[in-house]
Amino acid sequence: MRSPKDFFRPLAVGAPEPLHEIPFRPSRMLHFFPPNNDKMRAKVPSLVGTVDVLVANLEDGVPMADKEAARAGLIEVATTVDFGTTQLWTRVNSLDSPWCLDDLQAAVLEAGHAVDVIILPKVEGPEDIHYADRLIAQLEARAGLDRPILLHAILETARGVANVEEICLASPRMQGLSLGPADLAANRRMKTTRVGGGHPDYLVRSDPDPDNPEAPRQHFQQDLWHYTIARMVDACVTAGILPYYGPFGDIRDLTACGDQFRNAYLLGCVGAWSLHPDQIAVAKEVFSPSAAEVAHARRVIEAMGDGTGAIMLDGKMEDDASVKQCQVVVRLAEQLAASDPELAALYSTGA
Ligand code: GLV
Ligand code: MG
Repeated sequence: MRSPKDFFRPLAVGAPEPLHEIPFRPSRMLHFFPPNNDKMRAKVPSLVGTVDVLVANLEDGVPMADKEAARAGLIEVATTVDFGTTQLWTRVNSLDSPWCLDDLQAAVLEAGHAVDVIILPKVEGPEDIHYADRLIAQLEARAGLDRPILLHAILETARGVANVEEICLASPRMQGLSLGPADLAANRRMKTTRVGGGHPDYLVRSDPDPDNPEAPRQHFQQDLWHYTIARMVDACVTAGILPYYGPFGDIRDLTACGDQFRNAYLLGCVGAWSLHPDQIAVAKEVFSPSAAEVAHARRVIEAMGDGTGAIMLDGKMEDDASVKQCQVVVRLAEQLAASDPELAALYSTGA
């Protein structure tokens, strides 16, 4: 049993008060970099302002021998780089790894003044969030932080998906969830052998033509991730937190990357990971409403007056519910335009 009143009390004496709402900050691309790599670390200042979120990755992708160097790299960027309006997040190693405890200590005690969000991978259930929540509160108190560091979980095990609602609701520290298609595929024993995106063998095919059974039949590739993304979106919205698509590993295929990101955007996600500079522009384009979308949404809102009833516009029925959808698009456009003069100009001219 837990009183709802306790939910917003700090979990350690001296820790900052939990937030009641997750504030909107643009996070269209979570751009990953390996902080152990000197060349990549040196590029961080030049990425500030060009991406919404920089993620110092301490987990998968960093070799075992470099885990300490990655941690040191995180501390170095956190203490030397001015991040301006770009957020700094870090992905720590999973709770069952030998590195997680040191990662969390470094992220909060030594980099906590600059770190906005800690990404916790391979989260299986609310117990993982409760553990990290309390530990981070203790560390925040020791570091004397005056605002809470938020938590973002990656959905990358079948048990995590089965417990997704409880994970989202486990703490007011929860900021959002990312789909982790690579680990999730492995854990589910899917046969995909790739990092995210579709698979050419995942199809539906039309019936054979009875008069010509040998004729080629139409077939369409399906989205392997539809169920999981939709479930993740519902869980996040229920908890008032934000859903994200994760990695798309085929760096050269920017078209399919854009398609995967767009499916996630249409289903309700607010951003995706970028693993290479070329994916930054793709995420920015996909997760910012287009000028045409915004112009159409404004036109419907305007035509609907007080927002109730039903009208015909260009042969289509619009009513209270379509106005609400249009308001989602306009609100997102305004929130993004508030910190992006280019978007502000685009949306004001409707070009
Ligand atoms: C991301 O970490 C994934 O496993 O897809
Ligand atoms: Mg993973």
